[in-house]
Amino acid sequence: MTPDSQIVDCLGDVVCVSDLEPIAKANMTELAWEYLSCGAADELTLRWNCSAFEKIKLKPRVLVDVSSVTTHVNLLGHSLAFPILLAPVGLQRLYHPDGEIAAAQGAAEAGITYVISSYSTTNLEDVAHASKGPTWMQIYLQPDREFTKDVVQRAEAAGCLAFCVTVDLPVIGVRNRMDRIRFAVPNQLSVPHMMENFAGSPVTWDDVEWLRSITKLPVLLKGILDPEDAEIAVRNGVSGIIVSNHGARDLDSTPATVDVLPVIADSVAGRIPVLMDGGIRRGTDVLKALALGASAVMIGRPFCFGLAAAGSDGVVRVVEILRKELEITMALTGRTTISQIDRSVIWAE
Ligand code: FNR
Repeated sequence: MTPDSQIVDCLGDVVCVSDLEPIAKANMTELAWEYLSCGAADELTLRWNCSAFEKIKLKPRVLVDVSSVTTHVNLLGHSLAFPILLAPVGLQRLYHPDGEIAAAQGAAEAGITYVISSYSTTNLEDVAHASKGPTWMQIYLQPDREFTKDVVQRAEAAGCLAFCVTVDLPVIGVRNRMDRIRFAVPNQLSVPHMMENFAGSPVTWDDVEWLRSITKLPVLLKGILDPEDAEIAVRNGVSGIIVSNHGARDLDSTPATVDVLPVIADSVAGRIPVLMDGGIRRGTDVLKALALGASAVMIGRPFCFGLAAAGSDGVVRVVEILRKELEITMALTGRTTISQIDRSVIWAE
C-alpha cells in the first residue's frame, strides 16, 4: 500500500484524469493492469471511444452571465448534483486492496451514484452499507433465475435504487491481451454475485420482462447500440437505457458510443432517459455527450485509475476534476444549467 503522505503527494501533481493513469499502472500488478486497460481484439473501438470525442468541436458563446453555473439534474426521480455516475466495473480489489468499498465511499464523498458490478469482489450489502451514498446494482441475467432473483432481492434490501441490466455480454469478447497473460481471477478474490459459466446462457427480452415483474425498482438496460433495440426497450417498459459498448471490451469494430448516441437519442425522443458511457476523460466530453442527447454519463476506467492511485481519495479526485472541467466548459459555452446544453453547442462543420 502507498503510505498516506505519498498519496497526498501523488494526487497533488494530478491536474487531469490522464495524469492518474501512469500512477495507477505503477501501483498495480501487470495482471490487473491488463484486465483494466484492455479492449477487445485489435482495440479499434477502444481507441475510437476516445478519439470520437476529439472530433467533436464546441461553439463558445460570449457575454452571457455565467457567474452562477449549476450542474444539477433529475434522473429517475432523484436529484443528482451533477450528471456523472460510476459505471459497474468488475474485480475492483484487483486495483486496490479496499476495492469496491473504497470506490463506493469515494463516490459518496464526491456526491455521485455508485453502480455495484455483478463482478464485485465484495458482497453487495457491504458495499451498499459502507457507501452512505446512492447505489445501483448491475445485473447479468443468469441461467438460473433463482440466482438472479436472490441478487435482486438482496440489492433491494440493501437499499439500491435501480438495476442496471447489462445486455451486451452474451459471450465474453475476444480479449487478446487477457489471453496473452493467461488471465484468471486470483484465488484470494471471490466473485459472490456471479454464477460460474454464465456466458453463453440464452438470455432474451423475455428475461428482461421477467426481471421487471419481480422488482418495483427502475430497470435500465446497459449496452444498447442499435436504435431498433432502443425502441424495443422502450416498448418493453424499461426505465432507461445506457448507450455503451462495454468499454470496448466485447465486439471490436462497434462504433464509438458518442457517435451512436445521437441516433439513439433521436429514436427514444425523450420517452425514457438515455445514459451513455465509453471514452469520457474530460469535462468537455461530458458536455458533448449531454449535448448529443445523454441525460447523464458513466465513467469506468477513469475512476479505477483514481482508485488504484490513491483509494477513495483518488476516486474523489477524478470526480472533482471532471465536475470542475464540466463547470468551466459550461461557462465558456454560455450555459448555466444542464438543460441549456443541446446540439446548438456543437460546432457544425
Ligand atoms: C467493465 N465494464 C463492466 N460493465 C458491466 O456492466 N459489468 C461489469 O462487471 C463490467 N466490468 C468491467 C471491467 C473493466 C475492467 C472495465 C474497464 C469495464 C464496462 C463499464 O461498465 C463501462 O461500460 C466502461 O468502462 C465505460 O468505458 P470507459 O469509461 O472505461 O472508457
